[in-house]
Amino acid sequence: MLKETQLEQNYAAQEQFLAANPTSLELHEEALKVLPDGVTHSGRRWDPTGVYIDHAAGAYKFDVDGHRYIDYWMGHGSLLFGHAHPAIAQAAIDQISKGTHYGGNHAGEIRWAELICKLVPSAQKVRFFSSGTEATMMALRLARAATGREKMIKFGLRFHGWHDYNAVNETGVAPSGVPQAVADNVIVLPTEIGAVEKQLEGQHDVAAIILEADGASWGTLPNPAGFLAELRKLSSEKQVILIFDEIVSGFRYGPGGVQALEGVTPDLTCLAKILAGGFPGGAVAGRADLIDLLSVGAGSRYIVHHGTFNANPLSAAAGIAALSLIAAPDAQEKIYRPIEQQANRLRAGFNSVFQEAGLNGKAFCYGRGSVFHVCFDPDNRDIEWPLDGDVYAPGFGKSLAGSQVQTRLKRGIPEPLKTQLRLELDNRGVQFMGGIGGFVSVAHTASDIDETVEAFAGAVAGLQKNGWL
Ligand SMILES: Cc1ncc(COP(=O)(O)O)c(C=O)c1O
Repeated sequence: MLKETQLEQNYAAQEQFLAANPTSLELHEEALKVLPDGVTHSGRRWDPTGVYIDHAAGAYKFDVDGHRYIDYWMGHGSLLFGHAHPAIAQAAIDQISKGTHYGGNHAGEIRWAELICKLVPSAQKVRFFSSGTEATMMALRLARAATGREKMIKFGLRFHGWHDYNAVNETGVAPSGVPQAVADNVIVLPTEIGAVEKQLEGQHDVAAIILEADGASWGTLPNPAGFLAELRKLSSEKQVILIFDEIVSGFRYGPGGVQALEGVTPDLTCLAKILAGGFPGGAVAGRADLIDLLSVGAGSRYIVHHGTFNANPLSAAAGIAALSLIAAPDAQEKIYRPIEQQANRLRAGFNSVFQEAGLNGKAFCYGRGSVFHVCFDPDNRDIEWPLDGDVYAPGFGKSLAGSQVQTRLKRGIPEPLKTQLRLELDNRGVQFMGGIGGFVSVAHTASDIDETVEAFAGAVAGLQKNGWL
């Protein structure tokens, strides 16, 4: 039951939103007639609706009713350089005038693959797709073909795209539309090395272990310290293919992904998002003997793979432009140091807001590199969250194994508080990704961050005043 003050606030924030966005509301009504829930992605369904975007540039996007947003959604994490970065946009424009699909080979696909092999430690050879979902599907198929085994291990609360294998969770029950035969081949474990050891003990039916190298949901739920190295050792001993899903983390924290930062090289790496400079694209890169199962030379183990838009010239051009900036010798000073500095400023700003609001231990902001996550845990009585939000602190890292902690971090902000916060932020011209965090890009300036912190302080004050926190 909502408290009366909450209902009032719900009404007030929503009223303001509805009054300010008449064109978005009209479009939403039209969308409901042709699109389920009026949207094209389950993560973009908002109550009462998300605003409709007209155009975007740098750190901002602009909606159809003329509002400007400081954007932290950043193309679901694909826009490391912000919207319409000049070099990437120009590369795409130049390519459009030369044609967007040749139905044949082009030099761009070679240059794109060469850049991946240069940057990503595990990458000896590459195959391209149109999305990250396809990349993880193919990585799993490669592992099955290489080992002759059918099962896979993934970890609870993790995400690898929308395909059947990802959809299976801890219950082992096939979700709507997924064959039980698929669910029977998916083993979902907690992120504890002992659980993986136990699963592999005396068994020879597991083809692959897959996990997001930076932890669940772009680091919302970090992996326990040392987990990647432990998995590497174990999977090598058991001859199980180790797959890192670096679809978000690839090129995000540094040019070589989490594998370069942690010095752990998987057998296969899945890439997408930043890979294609904000255009559709995905890739599996890894050991040449595994990727070569896509070559006719693999004989009876040959995997036939089609895909109309694999390495299409437009995505390749944008991808080459983005990866060339990342491969440049000054990438640390021009890209990674500044975005981390801005993200530190934002995280510290949000945590000051929480401290000033007396929300220590109940709300905090954390994250790695350019990524931030906001966790509100208003009813918390049993977990001592780090005051500065440093969930990577050695002492705190241990308790990450606890399932309560994991569930709360992954949830971030419980409903209906999340919707309230989103409305408060939308009304103040700031957009997070999925309402619980986001990505700082090269285009975000210190004054964008300060404006965001001010908007956030206003949003928290509004929530608090009306009894939400
Ligand atoms: C870790 C991870 N893996 C896979 C995917 C799927 O990628 P795509 O949306 O390009 O299919 C995503 C998408 O957000 C992701 O975050």
